[in-house]
Amino acid sequence: MKTAEFPQIIIAIDGHSSCGKSTVAKEIAKKLGYIYIDSGAMYRAVTLFALRNGIADNEQVDVPELIKRLPEIKIEFRFNPENLRSDTILNGENVEEEIRQLPVSQHVSPVATIREVREAMVALQQEMGKNKGIVMDGRDIGTVVFPDAELKIFMTARPEVRAQRRYDELTAKGQQVEFDDILANVIERDRIDSSREVSPLKQADDAVILDNSDITREQQLDWVLQKVAQLISA
Ligand code: DC
Repeated sequence: MKTAEFPQIIIAIDGHSSCGKSTVAKEIAKKLGYIYIDSGAMYRAVTLFALRNGIADNEQVDVPELIKRLPEIKIEFRFNPENLRSDTILNGENVEEEIRQLPVSQHVSPVATIREVREAMVALQQEMGKNKGIVMDGRDIGTVVFPDAELKIFMTARPEVRAQRRYDELTAKGQQVEFDDILANVIERDRIDSSREVSPLKQADDAVILDNSDITREQQLDWVLQKVAQLISA
């Protein structure tokens, strides 16, 4: 598949937390020469802002205060030539590492349930996709952000498999974490993501399911590329 000839479409990847959505999305974007946007990073950046400003604490969020201060939050992505990835920038500061740490993970779900936060993020995401040629991953990309996306993928894996992957990721970075805490966090985030009132995580009617519990990274990439190829040749 030659990138230059490849039509510009929107690929929406939704699914449960820690099931490797961003890995797949990044690889696909690279293969097709598309932009990759991690929408979860945007909710994480808002959460970091809330934590740093005393708006979120002990899993409580001061919702009216956060809504009031939303205009102060500017989120961008900046390509990092050192590691070829896109870093998340919050008000001019590179927060890519900090938004992946446990304090943010523990507070992000309640922040992502706030209607006004979602409206602001969705508007930003739609703006980023207006020229197509984009792969975006998240929870509501195929249902709310880009309901007309040409390809929608719904990814999942068993909770224990996802917890183990996140545990390995964090311990490889030298963080001291307990597997049971990670598993509890994965299960709790699934519950909040799927049961929230605004834009709950659900599979779009026209999405294809990818359960990667028992397949390799290469197998899943092939699977997705095959779906893309089928779509283009249809
Ligand atoms: O994908 P992630 O784990 O980095 O996402 C962080 C949180 O943001 C997670 O609780 C779900 C939420 N989220 C969301 O509600 N909508 C999105 N489009 C992306 C993420």
